[in-house]
Amino acid sequence: MFGREFIASLLVAFSGGGIGKLLCRKRRLLEDIRAIELLPSLNVPFIPWTNAAARPLTVVYMLNEICINGRRNVLELGSGISTLYLASALGRCGGRLVSVEHDEAWIGIIEGYLGKLGIPEGVVRFCHAPMKDFETDEFGTLPWYDSGKVKTAVPEELFDMMVVDGPEAWMKGARFARYPALPVLAGNLAGDSVVFLDDVDRKGERRILGKWARENAFKAMIRPECCLGILRRGNSRVYNIF
Ligand SMILES: C[S@@+](CC[C@H](N)C(=O)[O-])C[C@H]1O[C@@H](n2cnc3c(N)ncnc32)[C@H](O)[C@@H]1O
Repeated sequence: MFGREFIASLLVAFSGGGIGKLLCRKRRLLEDIRAIELLPSLNVPFIPWTNAAARPLTVVYMLNEICINGRRNVLELGSGISTLYLASALGRCGGRLVSVEHDEAWIGIIEGYLGKLGIPEGVVRFCHAPMKDFETDEFGTLPWYDSGKVKTAVPEELFDMMVVDGPEAWMKGARFARYPALPVLAGNLAGDSVVFLDDVDRKGERRILGKWARENAFKAMIRPECCLGILRRGNSRVYNIF
């Protein structure tokens, strides 16, 4: 008589959200298993996929954007697993990736994997930019990449896709640490471009997304299933996965 969804909503209502969170985690797990099946094999024995890495479903979104909307010039903040998948997709279609990272040792590890993947030279360029204080009006002083180094690495370059998955922003006092990305780099975004902001399940990232959309002429949307905030301008296609 009662559907599964009705019973699930009763359980959520009477459990103070505990069962709701459990169901949500189970759903995410199933979506990520499906996403891993969709992702191309990188042909390396093992990659260190930790909780710092983008979720598989998030990576599928990024690769969809390259295939469906023809993105070829990608700027990424926060290197890792995403770098490997983006590089391998862009390497196949003549694209290029600039990856900004504060941790030099981590760049070395990711470069090692890129070598094993056989990514052609010139596809990926790293910008090592150590953390530095960044002053903002609304959020005070934030920890961000050395903006001088970032701007020097991409002086006049235009990107049609930007992925903001760094710096780390889960710690106290760093909730808005990803905000400076657009104030510093908006001038490097093409007229038709997309910005992905990871971790919008957090309040800090949701506020940043709204502020970015207001301050730059972008349309904002949130894909809650993969915790991704998306800003678009131009004529790109919007798609769903599940
Ligand atoms: C949110 S993570 C970026 C993750 C990256 N975009 C990815 O998909 O793997 C932010 C920072 O955490 C660090 N990091 C990422 N993966 C890591 C790992 N497996 N172990 C240690 N540090 C990691 C890097 O310094 C990175 O810039």
